[in-house]
Amino acid sequence: MTQYLADTTRHPHTSDQPAATADWWRDAVIYQVYPRSFADGNGDGMGDLPGIRERLPYLRDLGVDAVWLSPFYASPQADAGYDVADYRAVDPMFGTLHDADGLIRDAHRLGLRIIVDLVPNHTSDQHEWFKQAVSEGPGSPLRQRYHFRPGKGAGGELPPNDWESVFGGPAWTRAADGEWYLHLFAPEQPDLNWEHPAVQDEFRSILRFWLDMGVDGFRIDVAHGLVKADGLPDIGAHEQLKLLGNDVLPFFDQDGVHEIYRSWRRILDEYSPSHSPNLRPGALPGARIAVAEAWTPTVERTANYVRSDELHQAFNFQYLATRWDAAELRAVIDRSLDAMRPVAAPTTWVLSNHDVVRHATRLSSDGKTYDVRRARAASLLMLALPGSAYVYQGEELGLPEVTDLPDELRQDPAFFRAAGQDGFRDGCRVPIPWTSEGPSHGFGSGGSWLPQPESWARLSVAEQTGDPASTLELYRAALRLRRELPGLGAGESVRWEDAPEGVLSFLRPGFVCTVNTTSEPVTLPVPGALSLASSAVEITATGVVVPADTTVWWAV
Ligand code: NOJ
Repeated sequence: MTQYLADTTRHPHTSDQPAATADWWRDAVIYQVYPRSFADGNGDGMGDLPGIRERLPYLRDLGVDAVWLSPFYASPQADAGYDVADYRAVDPMFGTLHDADGLIRDAHRLGLRIIVDLVPNHTSDQHEWFKQAVSEGPGSPLRQRYHFRPGKGAGGELPPNDWESVFGGPAWTRAADGEWYLHLFAPEQPDLNWEHPAVQDEFRSILRFWLDMGVDGFRIDVAHGLVKADGLPDIGAHEQLKLLGNDVLPFFDQDGVHEIYRSWRRILDEYSPSHSPNLRPGALPGARIAVAEAWTPTVERTANYVRSDELHQAFNFQYLATRWDAAELRAVIDRSLDAMRPVAAPTTWVLSNHDVVRHATRLSSDGKTYDVRRARAASLLMLALPGSAYVYQGEELGLPEVTDLPDELRQDPAFFRAAGQDGFRDGCRVPIPWTSEGPSHGFGSGGSWLPQPESWARLSVAEQTGDPASTLELYRAALRLRRELPGLGAGESVRWEDAPEGVLSFLRPGFVCTVNTTSEPVTLPVPGALSLASSAVEITATGVVVPADTTVWWAV
């Protein structure tokens, strides 16, 4: 008997019930929308808020709990919106505040929560504050909201210290008046000085602005970067990109950041249900949350961001960075769960986002070829783990990384500053295909800002819908089961079962997950009733044959 998807209809279908508890976020599946590449409502080739709004029913039917929107604020787009000029305005290319309001309300009506991106480490160089800082000149108190310093060398012609930008090159740019300003990312993204009370007040006010708009949470960009070590000391090493995430650097993961998050948590708690007077009609009950984008050297340091009086979740980049290897996966899963247990925060799991090579390509044996089979197995493993999972738009379609974009179409500032090191972020940002035909495969009526490969026609939502062998239906079934099988996303540990080398098998309440990471089929005892499999498994009199690179869910 060969089985692909088991009949999941025997589990009552409850996906239209919003997860309404205060703790909805602990096991939530959160879907990342990258606004410029999700759906284009006005046909200008660029995704927008009206486009997203129209497609919300798709996300409800997919079965996610919440939607995280990458930045849609007023921005010159030097870094695709992570350079914010006005935190309280929608960029006209994405729509209006009225569109944002409608999107939030529609999402809530469908039982979906909305998480918006907050970019506190830096502003755009076109933000009023920075424009004032530049025009007022050295010595102005308005300059102190950023990190301006005189240069080194006789004429101040050398940067104030040896820090390098994450996007390559020095982390300092010299203003026309001779002083230098710090930017850990592009020169158009000057770093804010978080010692300054005005900066702290402004961001507390921005949090309240969006909470008053009805959002359910925030994704905190560069959450590990806000506080810089006193005196901005030299690092004394080059190629600092290689140190990122491996070491505590004077500009990353400084202990001072945690006081900021404690003050934000108090605001989030104010807007959480026990203070319902602050909730507007139509809002969903439950906590307002924040998730940290914190690249830290270890999961243990990541756990500091989610202590009970700080943020709620932090992305588990150690998991994202793990190879498709049973022993390494088991180790990172255990270590992640162990690290979060003392702070009682849920572990998160993530395989793809707008900054990394899509996992359908990244997890392949050479990291460059399309291996959707492995990607499906990896996704099903991720969705079986206790805690909260993040899904990046298009991974549910099994989209590969686009590796052959012409250089002249690229927009990622990292590509221009550090080509060869980190020039690949446009390849995961190509607009997603909705239909097999039509301009831009249904993304919009006016083409798409990055070209989609022709082969994406067969990966479109329309082509995959209703095909039980498709990746889209695999995600739909997995997310349905996650809601229906008691305890699938809940809990804080997994119980490992004995398994042959290269195979993982773990028990959760009422549920077993088996993962064959090897390139050969393995025959195993049948542990229960087949629920779902990432590729066809064969159940014989002697056991189940789990093919190479396959994950299977069993109800027990
Ligand atoms: C992290 C964001 O995910 C990335 O896209 C951006 O370039 C940097 N932070 C700078 O804001």
